[in-house]
Amino acid sequence: MELSSTPPSNIDPAALRARFTALPQNSDPADQVQLARINLGRQLYFDKRLSRESNQSCNSCHQLTNYGVDNKQYSPGSMPGAIDTPRNTPTVYNAAFQLSQFWDGRAVNLIAQAHGPLVAPKEMALHNLQEAVDIVARVPGYAPEFRQAFPGQQDPVNIENITASIAAFEQGLITPSPWDRYLQGDTAALTPAQKKGLKLYLADGCDTCHAGRDMGGISYQRLGDVYRWGNKSDPGREKVTHSATDFMFFKVPTLRNIAKTGPYFHDGSVPTLTDAIHLMADFQAGQTISDSDAASIAAFLGSMTGTLPASYIAAPAEPPSGSQSAGQSEGNKTSSIRESSGGRS
Ligand code: HEC
Ligand code: HEC
Repeated sequence: MELSSTPPSNIDPAALRARFTALPQNSDPADQVQLARINLGRQLYFDKRLSRESNQSCNSCHQLTNYGVDNKQYSPGSMPGAIDTPRNTPTVYNAAFQLSQFWDGRAVNLIAQAHGPLVAPKEMALHNLQEAVDIVARVPGYAPEFRQAFPGQQDPVNIENITASIAAFEQGLITPSPWDRYLQGDTAALTPAQKKGLKLYLADGCDTCHAGRDMGGISYQRLGDVYRWGNKSDPGREKVTHSATDFMFFKVPTLRNIAKTGPYFHDGSVPTLTDAIHLMADFQAGQTISDSDAASIAAFLGSMTGTLPASYIAAPAEPPSGSQSAGQSEGNKTSSIRESSGGRS
């Protein structure tokens, strides 16, 4: 795709708003209950006790100070030697805006999603969801927090409330960026190089799939729409729908913070963003683009690197296990789980 080398004119932000939507700012919680729920969700998100070896929290793989990822091809799980294969860890930032969760869209929303990792054998590896409830119930500090977050409930420490709290916290993981300011009308928010990249992005049809608020997350598409992707060991959405026509379909990933969230693709097989852009142009649009065009698109995608919500994601103090005060027989089980963590971080 050749474009003239004259300085790029601005694409009218109002016209772009037909395809793209700016991220909202993270708004203040509606009320005290919502605030309590978010605070509880944050604690659970960071609590390593919710894994088989007490060595892994959501934040171990989805590191919030690192754009919600660990930059590994596949993330190690709680059990020694367990590698979560064959899928690359996606970011949790802005995940709430997607049509579904996971590469294959098998969870309808964040609440449904949060059930998965707790018991996934190669992730936090608890034996079952009741174990998560038991662990939380044995931490004395959690009881008042659940009462505040779910007032009026007889027995608020249950899996529905655990996952709802984590999801409430995740809903605030939003990263507005220069791209949002551009969409809102501030045409100085993008550099000339980024504006050139935006034109190429549109000319190459990237926006047919990567659009909306998240620059993705609004549809499922076949990886290798024009040419076939080499690694076919993961059938993608076919596993969910059991329909052969969904073979190799994946949820189109968000391009928010994409400069920070490599390696790329569901199999984490591509280390650099410019290589990912070349492959996308080849495989999805059937065209070969020059290195300089790929670099321009990469510059444009850099405008989607947002500001991390520093105080919102500050790691909270873990409510103490309180082995003495827990009193009941299960208290011992907590401490034995804790001891077996063997100091792994
Ligand atoms: C061992 C690393 C690991 C841990 C721990 C982990 N995740 Fe994940 N997470 C992943 C991987 C890998 C995927 C993609 C799996 C798939 O698509 O099948 C994923 C997917 C997700 C998604 C979907 C994002 C998207 O764009 O589709 C969300 C949300 C998420 N995890 C939140 C959490 C929460 C909340 C926790 C803690 C309860 C957690 N994760 C713990 C590795 C991890
Ligand atoms: C036909 C739909 C479609 C088009 C057009 C398309 N993409 Fe994609 N894109 C996808 C899908 C689907 C994936 C996820 C594939 C996978 O990993 O299984 C993806 C993945 C990516 C990734 C890796 C994201 C990650 O988190 O690993 C980048 C970067 C990307 N696309 C950029 C682009 C660019 C730039 C263009 C234009 C040259 C483009 N895409 C055109 C559907 C599309």
